[in-house]
Amino acid sequence: MLKRGYFSNFGGAFLPEVLTATFDELEQVFEDAKADPGFWKEYEHVMSTYSCRPTPLTFAENLTRHFGGAKIYIKREDLNHTGAHKANNVMGQGLLVKRMGKSRVIAETGAGQHGVATATMAARYGFDCTIYMGEVDVQRQRPNVFWMQRLGAEVIPVKDGTRILKDAINEAFRDWVSNMEHTHYVLGTACGPHPFPEMVSYFQSIIGKEVRSQILEAQGCLPKRVYACVGGGSNAMGLFSGFLNDPVQLVGVEAGGHGLNSGKHASRLCSQDASVGVAQGYKTYFLQNSDGQMLDTHSIAAGLDYVGVSPILADLKENGRARFEAATDSEVVAAVDLAMRKEGLIPALESAHAFARAFQEAAEMNPEDSLIINQSGRGDKDIFTVADAFNDPAWQQFIKQKAEQYNA
Ligand SMILES: Cc1ncc(COP(=O)(O)O)c(C=O)c1O
Repeated sequence: MLKRGYFSNFGGAFLPEVLTATFDELEQVFEDAKADPGFWKEYEHVMSTYSCRPTPLTFAENLTRHFGGAKIYIKREDLNHTGAHKANNVMGQGLLVKRMGKSRVIAETGAGQHGVATATMAARYGFDCTIYMGEVDVQRQRPNVFWMQRLGAEVIPVKDGTRILKDAINEAFRDWVSNMEHTHYVLGTACGPHPFPEMVSYFQSIIGKEVRSQILEAQGCLPKRVYACVGGGSNAMGLFSGFLNDPVQLVGVEAGGHGLNSGKHASRLCSQDASVGVAQGYKTYFLQNSDGQMLDTHSIAAGLDYVGVSPILADLKENGRARFEAATDSEVVAAVDLAMRKEGLIPALESAHAFARAFQEAAEMNPEDSLIINQSGRGDKDIFTVADAFNDPAWQQFIKQKAEQYNA
């Protein structure tokens, strides 16, 4: 039998002793909630009345025609409240926080989507809220910082390390150790010590449950392949969980950055730069050197720019159940452009990794086959990065005018 919290060789809970009681409490409340027949119903009720569940499945007719291969469907997680799948996890953990009777939540965020979702949940449930965010991400996802602050959260820019997601996670753990009696750490992805990978995947499984019945209703049979981008792995786990026992190919797409041989990427499951190790309380593939020092990562998408990956996905890779690929920054920008022009969809840069790979493979597939891409979030937050990538002169003029207005 597998040890608790392990997925074959991956996972576990490598914790400082001081956190053991808090993790035991969390595990217990999660197990109780799962065993309570009313809990999932309560969760679905929250998600259908406060977010936008069930999110639609859109047939991308124009893209399908454009590639001339498999029928392309898009699962619309961008239509959740706050614009991403992050709401699924956050509202679920919020219900657990209420059960534990805690009064404060903290979270890390990269792209800011998880931070904004946590800040809305805290406002709604009346919790105090602190968000840790790497200083680099504060700069590149400025609109989300604005919203978190307006929602009443304190946003703390993290100046340690490379000042991105992994550094924000370290800082959140530091806070938790000092404040655990009344504080819950709302970890944003299917990573970290047990029970987080399992718990976050449980809440995200709402994506897979919905989409499986939606595709069966739309076309009477299962898709051949499903695609999700992979940061920590939560939207991928949500999508994949609907098809784990079906003859459906699961494809995870990581950040290829400037290319897998460039040393500037965040690909843990399909590059040679990652190896199995223990960090941030769990065992998985990390981008690290032979001394176990974490390597710098790069992605155009802040939400994929992370050194570790879900231990559950590491297991799915190892046992051959899922395939992992990478999309480069420039392929991703081209995919955003095409999705906008052909379908009027504006995927987040993170989600566009899945689009980019699916676009490459769709043309080689049969017209009788179908594929599903998870649009994990909407691209509004990326306006500065995308405008830079397209070198948009009208936008640059607008920014200059705004700067002059503030300097006047
Ligand atoms: C829109 C969007 N998609 C995907 C991700 C990646 O996270 P995960 O791999 O946990 O789904 C993020 C992370 O911030 C995100 O904002």
